[in-house]
Amino acid sequence: MVQNLSEKITLADGNQIPGFGFGCYNSFGDEIADAVRMAVENGYRYIDSATFYGNEDAVGKGIAECGVDHSELFVLSKTWPNAYDKVEQSVMNNLKNLRVEYLDAMLLHWPGTDETARLHAFEQGLRLKEKGVIRSMGVSNFQMDQLERLYEEFGIWPVINELELHPNYQQRELAAFCRERNIQLIAYSPIARGAYVDNQELLAIASRYGKSTAQVVLRWHTQKGIIPIPKSSHENRIRENADIFDFVLTDDELAAVDALECNGRMGQDPYKFPPAELMK
Ligand SMILES: NC(=O)c1ccc[n+]([C@@H]2O[C@H](COP(=O)([O-])OP(=O)(O)OC[C@H]3O[C@@H](n4cnc5c(N)ncnc54)[C@H](OP(=O)(O)O)[C@@H]3O)[C@@H](O)[C@H]2O)c1
Repeated sequence: MVQNLSEKITLADGNQIPGFGFGCYNSFGDEIADAVRMAVENGYRYIDSATFYGNEDAVGKGIAECGVDHSELFVLSKTWPNAYDKVEQSVMNNLKNLRVEYLDAMLLHWPGTDETARLHAFEQGLRLKEKGVIRSMGVSNFQMDQLERLYEEFGIWPVINELELHPNYQQRELAAFCRERNIQLIAYSPIARGAYVDNQELLAIASRYGKSTAQVVLRWHTQKGIIPIPKSSHENRIRENADIFDFVLTDDELAAVDALECNGRMGQDPYKFPPAELMK
């Protein structure tokens, strides 16, 4: 378990990723540029970006102005399924917009519904890794059968699977499958977009430590070896979300958070997404 924001976890390919990250979805222009800069100023070292977020130029501005060299950051981006026939071109756009020379990790953002395209995209990603354009090759929203198919075809597992994970939606079987294969779990929507603020079970735990429910949930992720990537545009919350390294949840408290599981997915069905209109 990481003990601070910048402590790293070693991936199956030998590269290292900070055990806590900063999400960049659904914020634009100076708001996200400032948020990225503030996150780094407050100790975050992993920036979670994606072509689909439509804001990489601003994220890149934040990275350029944060005062920390890329060599000390972990810059991750994701390729959208509409570019699975031209992954290199898509990654070159990521580099240009983010103003970096390489990506620390590139993920296939969704499995998509076209298996041939998905496999072709993964193969292109592996070639970009050989060239050093990306350092680590991972996926997001991939299910067990889709991971197995990659392994059958290429004889390796992606080193990351970024999934919707939070107390109401823990994807336990898939998470265990990934752990057994040394596929690092990254939790997106780790605080369920603020949905736990009034949760009574979490409030009871939070009050014992003088923490917020968001902090309890983020601590729960890190104690499970999962990398959470909360997003906020506000400096007070950027700080709050990172201030989770001075308390330890007991086994009973971890179990109480575990008990909130209710198959409460907030995002999309990975077998059906993205729809045709998002493939243009
Ligand atoms: N791979 C994928 O398919 C995928 C899908 C979704 C997201 N992601 C990644 O995961 C990141 C995080 O997920 P997310 O943005 O969906 O959700 P999230 O991080 O769980 O929640 C972000 C929302 O919660 C609010 N918030 C932040 N800190 C808070 C706090 N301490 N208390 C109460 N509310 C708080 C934020 O508002 P303010 O900004 O106003 O503070 C924002 O509206 C994304 O930004 C993106 O990088 C990946």
